[in-house]
Parts: sequence; structure tokens; C-alpha cells
Amino acid sequence: MKALILAAGKGTRLRPLTYTMPKPMVPVMNRPVLFFVIDQAIEGGIKEIGIVVSPDNKETIRDAVMKEYGGGDLSFEFIVQKEPKGLAHAVRTAQPWLGDDDFVMLLGDNLTEIELSEMIKDFYNEKADALILVKEVDDPTRFGVVVLDEEGNVKDLVEKPKVPPSNLAIVGVYLFSPSIHDSILRIKPSWRGEYEITDAIAELVKMGKKVKVVKLDGWWIDTGKKDTVLEANFAVLDAYAEQKIEGEVSEDTRIIGRVIVEEGAVVRSSELRGPAIIGAGTIVENSSIGPFTCIGDDSEIKNSSISYSVFLDKVKVIGVHGVMDSLVGKNATISMQGAPKVKLFIGDDASVEL
Ligand code: DAU
Repeated sequence: MKALILAAGKGTRLRPLTYTMPKPMVPVMNRPVLFFVIDQAIEGGIKEIGIVVSPDNKETIRDAVMKEYGGGDLSFEFIVQKEPKGLAHAVRTAQPWLGDDDFVMLLGDNLTEIELSEMIKDFYNEKADALILVKEVDDPTRFGVVVLDEEGNVKDLVEKPKVPPSNLAIVGVYLFSPSIHDSILRIKPSWRGEYEITDAIAELVKMGKKVKVVKLDGWWIDTGKKDTVLEANFAVLDAYAEQKIEGEVSEDTRIIGRVIVEEGAVVRSSELRGPAIIGAGTIVENSSIGPFTCIGDDSEIKNSSISYSVFLDKVKVIGVHGVMDSLVGKNATISMQGAPKVKLFIGDDASVEL
């Protein structure tokens, strides 16, 4: 079995961050979301991983992935999709690499609490042509939606229905036999102009193929927007953060809960409330950081307090209290001198709440 990870979207809802970084590279717990997705494929025992990228994010994604995972027994293929014409189009673009293998398809910006190895077992036990992960949600209109028959087989699927026929949303973890390639050739673009994988799976059902679902009870977060990146950061820190102090922490600093201080970081006269991470080479002084906060590498936080936030690398925060629910890009400076005034120099598509 191979894994196909889709990472060729535009990330428009995460601007201005995505002007300078591909959406799947936006970090939670100081690691790109994409790495958590790759880890999931590896956990499923998969060694051949194809990543669908766009022409402009190929290099950044390839370099980061090879730096993190290269040199071992995993093999990576970076497949360029010239335009993001839909999930089924991405599979069609990857078909020469996928060949006649079964494969799992994962979305490079979606995090889910699943054990892929269990799903792979189910796929083979069921001898299914498609096994898709679904979750009951309150607002199914934003997703692909599945209708089941009495035996739990998939009867129909609709992409982003105005009137949802059920509350079972497609989560974005799919296992396929090679018969999906035939059904992709039969579909037409949807109303939004995309070749939908949901339509291709509906076509499989029409072709009399066995399509089954697995219901997800745990969390699932699509990290497409600021608030969902923060939500994902919360979930991932909650699930995976373990205490690790490798940097220098002064005696008058208070550490509460699971805190990671990376190598080369220096923390003085501060309070760190876990789960939280202080990135490598970052200096924290007279500040309160956390909970659920990640500060990237080589940053400087002085006389400030930050909670429930994600800060990327090389950020400066000086004299600002009460920063919360914030997502801040690289090289940003936020400072307050004396009484609060608001002086801004921020890029296109930024959003500031005071
Ligand atoms: O999040 C789950 C939903 O994902 C499902 O419920 C829907 O059935 C499914 O169609 C998909 O809907 P979205 O509209 O949310 O998909 P989005 O355009 O955000 O793309 C998902 C990922 O796939 C994203 O990481 C970018 C990548 N992608 C997307 C397109 C359209 C590609 O690699 N190539 C593409 O052509």
C-alpha cells in the first residue's frame, strides 16, 4: 500500500501567512501540519509516500520533507499538479506513480486522531474498493456527505450539499483499490469547477463496487483558517507534548505542567505554563507564556504575556500583555512603549483585533 498526501491547495484563507509559506507548512507544536500527516502514514506501516504539490510550493515542501525524513528506508515522490482542479484531479495526476497499488489518500492540512494501521486492516478484511473515514457533524454543508444503507454500505455521496441528506461528513482519510482510477475517468467537473473525489466514490457505488465507512469518534481539524490552526495546536499539544527542558532556565522561573524548552533557548524570571514550547535559540525574559502556546525559534519575548497562541520563528514581542488566540508569522515585531497606542505596519490581508 502507498500513501498519497495532497498538498497543492492555495491556502487563501490563511493569508497573509500563506503568501510566504505553503499552507501544509504552517506549524502546530512547532512542526508543519504536513509532518503530522506524514507521521500518520508511517504509523500505518507505509514506506512509499507520494506528495501532490503545486509548481510554486514544490521546492519548499520537498526540501523540508527530505530534511526531516530523508536518508532512511522511506521513499518520497513529489508529484506536481499544475492547477488545483480538485481532489480527483490530484489522484489522476498521481496515477502513473500509484500504478496498480492500493493506496491511502490523506489531506496535507487535516489532522485526525486515528490509527491508520487499524483502518488498513479493516480495508483488507472488508475487501472494499473504498473505505472512507466519516464523522457526525453539526453543519455537514461544508463537507462531502455520505448516506448509508441498513447494512452500513455507502448508498450515496454528495459534495457540500445545500440540504444535507445525513450528518456524516467525509473527513479526508480515504483508502482505495486501483478501481478508483476508472471511476475518476467517468466524472465531470462539479458546480465549483473541480473534479471531486466524492463524485468519483459515488461513481464507484454506481459501478457496484464495495464502499464502506469507518466512523471517527476522536478529533478532526481542517487547519485552513487562523482559528482552526489554533484549535489544531491545542489538540496536538494536549495529545503529544511531553516535558523536555534542553535550554537554560533560570532558578526564578516557574514551570507548571508539560513544557518544552528547546536547545539554546534561554528563559529568565518568567512563568511557563504547559502545554507550551519555547523554540530553539529563543530568549524569554520577565514574561508569562502559555498554556497552549508555541513560540518558534530565535525569537525574543520580553515583559509580555502570551497564551493560546502560535508564533513562528524570529518574532519579537516587547512589553505587550494579554496576547491571546493569536497566530503570528515569521520576523514579526509587536511592541508597546508607555501608554497603549496603536501604530501599525502590517501586510496585505492581515487581521488585527484590539
Ligand atoms: O476536509 C474534508 C473535506 O475535504 C471533505 O469533506 C470533502 O468531501 C473534500 O472534497 C475536501 O473538501 P475541501 O473543499 O475542504 O478541500 P480543499 O480544497 O480544502 O482541499 C483539501 C486538501 O487537498 C488541501 O490540503 C489542498 C489539497 N488539494 C486541493 C485541491 C482542490 C490538492 O492537492 N489539489 C487540489 O486540486
